Amino acid sequence: MKAVEWADGTLRILDQTRLPHQEVVIEARTAREVAAAIGRMSVRGAPLLGIAAAYGMVLSASGDSRAGWEGRMDALERAGAELIASRPTAVNVAWAVGRTLDAARSAADRCPAALPAAVLHEAQRIEREDEVSCLAIARLGADLLPGSGNVLTHCNTGALATAGCGTALGMIVAAHEAGKHLHVWVDETRPVLQGARLTAWELQRAEVPMTLVADSAAGSLMARGLVDAVAVGADRIAANGDTANKVGTYVLAVLAGHHGIPFYVAAPLSTVDVTTATGADIVIEERDPAEVLAPGGTPFAPAGTRVANPAFDVTPASMITAIVTDRGVATPPLGAALRTLLGAPAPRQAVSP
Ligand code: MRU
Repeated sequence: MKAVEWADGTLRILDQTRLPHQEVVIEARTAREVAAAIGRMSVRGAPLLGIAAAYGMVLSASGDSRAGWEGRMDALERAGAELIASRPTAVNVAWAVGRTLDAARSAADRCPAALPAAVLHEAQRIEREDEVSCLAIARLGADLLPGSGNVLTHCNTGALATAGCGTALGMIVAAHEAGKHLHVWVDETRPVLQGARLTAWELQRAEVPMTLVADSAAGSLMARGLVDAVAVGADRIAANGDTANKVGTYVLAVLAGHHGIPFYVAAPLSTVDVTTATGADIVIEERDPAEVLAPGGTPFAPAGTRVANPAFDVTPASMITAIVTDRGVATPPLGAALRTLLGAPAPRQAVSP
């Protein structure tokens, strides 16, 4: 099944905390249940979080049919705030909540009965758009990768993180399918192990040659000439191109810069937050210490050890070779290139201002 699926008034969520060993589906029937699934990372990955949040808004819009227009809009706004708070770094959640709220506000003649259909229509549009975006990113990104060699990736940016084939992982798989001879170094991605559990699973199913490595192996692999490109996703891209992504991404960018290796970020333009000027303004989610203290529920560190668990970090624009978006490839200066792409209706080509 897909990572999320809307069926009969329910959001069916493939519980990613149980993968790869168990395929368990959670059925969310309220916006609060969707927010909870987002918070515990049953559903994850910036684009998919936006889609899940949009369907969470549908569940809210379908609630209490006795309330009038104002009452239902209030409830919808409260549900939106709860969904946004469930994971603050991925801008796609706030973006999708904003789109569904706009759709609700323009529902026919402020008619309460028209709300559920208007919000559902918008959620389905967001999901379809992401599918198309992934294909565009995959095609554009595949062209950037070498004809043969090793690509290193971090976290999970594939079908489990989007409504389509993925972003960074989408471009790697597309390059493989186009006949490029690539081998993928998969960072295990501590502490939640999205690389080991999810990316390895997806690449295995796609039959792309890959090797799982501890995150800390990246430096020595690069020093030995065993990495030809790094490709990662993004949770929020500031207006100047600074990019928040899974913690550990910044280290890879520093290492790639030191070794002269291209460092690619892949994300739909919906991940660009023009209201955030630079990476310094991006809120970094701090997660439960238990993820670090007891991965998979097994305690490693002594009880009572103090833990810091930032889920993301920020890679400065100056360290990024290119951002592959659904409307074109942004190359430095990234802020100007992103502005051009955001302003353009649908140019399907590289942009080098
Ligand atoms: O904490 P997660 O698993 O939601 O983090 C996901 C990432 O950091 C991804 O790299 C990013 O969302 C891009 S997903 C296409």
